[in-house]
Amino acid sequence: MTNQYVSELTNTAKMMMSEGKGILAMDESNGTCNRRFEKLGIATTEENRRAYRELILTAPNLSDYISGAILYDETIRQSTKDGVSFIKVMQEAGMIPGIKVDTGAKDYAGHPGEKVTEGLDGLRDRIAEYYKMGARFAKWRAVITIGNLIPSDGCIEANAHGLARYAALCQEGGLVPIVEPEVLINGDHSIERCYEVTQSTLHEVFRQLYVQGVAYDQMNLKPSMVISGDNCSSQADVEQVATETIRCLLNTVPPAVPGIAFLSGGQSKERSSAHLNYMNANLRSKLPWRVTFSYARAIQQPALDHWSCKAEKVAEAQKILVQRAKLNSAASVGNYSEEMEKQPVLV
Ligand code: 13P
Repeated sequence: MTNQYVSELTNTAKMMMSEGKGILAMDESNGTCNRRFEKLGIATTEENRRAYRELILTAPNLSDYISGAILYDETIRQSTKDGVSFIKVMQEAGMIPGIKVDTGAKDYAGHPGEKVTEGLDGLRDRIAEYYKMGARFAKWRAVITIGNLIPSDGCIEANAHGLARYAALCQEGGLVPIVEPEVLINGDHSIERCYEVTQSTLHEVFRQLYVQGVAYDQMNLKPSMVISGDNCSSQADVEQVATETIRCLLNTVPPAVPGIAFLSGGQSKERSSAHLNYMNANLRSKLPWRVTFSYARAIQQPALDHWSCKAEKVAEAQKILVQRAKLNSAASVGNYSEEMEKQPVLV
């Protein structure tokens, strides 16, 4: 059976990866968004989540640096205070609406310390609804934890299978799947161990994608970087993280995939930019895919901190947000430098 969406999927997958742009992740579940609000003393109400997402989506010039943004189920149904739907705001600004469709990483039966991502039940119908609303791509995040004797083969296989089933359903329903296997940064493991685990995970993910008939040229990959655990006593430098990450991806990701957009995964905002920049400034001739960002915290956090739910801070917070998007846009073409971090943003 031919898929009626092939040309649209191929086109959308490429547009998501437009030169000089990246994807903004703003699909925090209510639980995650509320935890970030609580740290700043912001009341965890639906209206505050809406107001914060309005701040992001209406930030002037954001679409110069952002090709698409990933929304959460609550957010995709919301509107600005003037009643314009967020989907419309995005469409008018030229940003492609995306939607998180997994229902979260749950404890993996019989495997203490490991998670498996859920959300396949009813997914075909949810995809149809999101497509009708205007979404054109989706995301599903699987989580792999490094620890003593973990990850198990079972955990990698179950998560890869879920990602592949999700991706096939997305392509059937006209949404480009972002396939996100996140190897967590948490732990005292070395960068070498992270390399091994990331490589095994990506091999299994692409094997399962193949088995489930997913078209590689109609999806995008959102991996974590190959990096030292956050509690490892010896931290790999920018060059090592960038070169090991690209070596691992070259060994596992088919060149037909249009692009790779990293998650930030708890790295500092400066490191997230520096790593991406090194890959594009120094390793570009080796790359068969576009390599860019799909950060949440590394773009949003300074703006969220500044806003802290104060109406009079919205315009400044938007400038801070767009500045981070701009620096990562520069990193996505190898033009970022540490000096740029010193540019005054609020003048
Ligand atoms: P971070 O960049 O904060 O890791 O978030 C990206 C993301 O979408 C995680 O699923």
